[in-house]
Amino acid sequence: MTEGEARARADIIARFDAMAKVAQEGRRILDARPDGAVDDGFGASGYADTAGLPDGALRASLGCGDPVGVADPRPGETVLDLGCGGGLDVLLAARRVGPAGKVYGLDASAEMIELAKANAAEAGAGNVGFLHAAIEDVPLPDASVDVIVSNYVINLSVDKPRVLEEAYRVLRPGGRIAVADVIAEDGLDPDRRAAAERRVGCRYGTLTEGEYRALLARAGFGRYTVTRARPVIDGLHAALIRAGKPDAPPGIVIRPMRTADADQVLAIYQAGLDGGNASFETTAPSWEAFDAGKLPLHRYVAVEATTGQVVGWVAVSPVSGRCVYAGVVEDSVYVHPDHAGRGIGLALLNALIQSTEAAGVWTIEAGVFPENTASLRLHEKAGFRVVGTRHRLGRHHGRWRDVVLIERRSPVVGV
Ligand SMILES: C[S@@+](CC[C@H](N)C(=O)[O-])C[C@H]1O[C@@H](n2cnc3c(N)ncnc32)[C@H](O)[C@@H]1O
Repeated sequence: MTEGEARARADIIARFDAMAKVAQEGRRILDARPDGAVDDGFGASGYADTAGLPDGALRASLGCGDPVGVADPRPGETVLDLGCGGGLDVLLAARRVGPAGKVYGLDASAEMIELAKANAAEAGAGNVGFLHAAIEDVPLPDASVDVIVSNYVINLSVDKPRVLEEAYRVLRPGGRIAVADVIAEDGLDPDRRAAAERRVGCRYGTLTEGEYRALLARAGFGRYTVTRARPVIDGLHAALIRAGKPDAPPGIVIRPMRTADADQVLAIYQAGLDGGNASFETTAPSWEAFDAGKLPLHRYVAVEATTGQVVGWVAVSPVSGRCVYAGVVEDSVYVHPDHAGRGIGLALLNALIQSTEAAGVWTIEAGVFPENTASLRLHEKAGFRVVGTRHRLGRHHGRWRDVVLIERRSPVVGV
């Protein structure tokens, strides 16, 4: 974080410290309508059911939606509220997860944390805990949370990509995130956008729908949607953002592929080629060639949770530059031979399907040697069908080989 960003964050937090004090004095705070421009749907008015919750929590509410209602935490789950403010969402989530569950409220404002603690004590919530910390550096271990919620906070961050990366890190495999936030229309005139952001208190700028989707994809999320809930003011909208972290077999984490993974990825690639049934290629490409050929937002590695060792990867290449094929890609999935049979290939393929579908890809295809029955079975489990066999398509180590063409047509994109 630069000095300027640190200063900007400190200014933002000081403002919320002051607002928390107003609430502590028993007054209502609603930061979002300095000139009366912003109407219903902010604060406690955005919830269907707040009966029985402390007045202090309702008065302090500064959200723009109901992310807890969207995420629907279940009994026993662990929930993290990023930027919990006075704690209304913490209390709502605490009711849902029950005594076997746990809800953490995290906020960088010490005064907001004090307010939230007082509200939780008044509500008699015994299954909550509070973290005085920044959403860019969450003090929780990897894969420790089932559900993340956040209500009108991420727009305030000086490092929004980092917030989503942290959210991905602390979610357990298969975990989910629901965010209420204010977003800008894509293509809005920058001056008009900045003026509207100032009016609703988005002090470090909003994301557009496209920017949110790109950051979610880059952080590794699949199944993401960004849905406008209602117009707020002049090109800004309250929105609900939902996404999921890919599921993984025990002991494995699926995460986006990074340049630092290059050596391990290419070694696994080469081990697959050496088996003789993975591809017509006989030598793994250079990292530069690999990087240039694969789409950047749909590459995952499977790593051992304890050691970080890469044990498999998946990636896709576009099949054609013609626009009619914009939603058609070809996958490659490789698992280190020592780790076959652990369900890693299927987890990688499922992660790829969720990420490509969220981005609007409608068909994933692959060509597989008929002798590679493991790959054919794996793809079948992930919903691929056999299109047909291409006979004597090419020579491999001096031998003509057939290739089975398989494809998965998405049941959700472009139907
Ligand atoms: C608009 S309020 C929303 C509070 C709460 N989610 C609600 O719905 O009432 C934004 C909250 O995010 C906190 N916040 C802003 N930037 C933060 C950051 N970088 N890290 C942690 N908390 C932050 C503020 O202190 C404030 O409590």
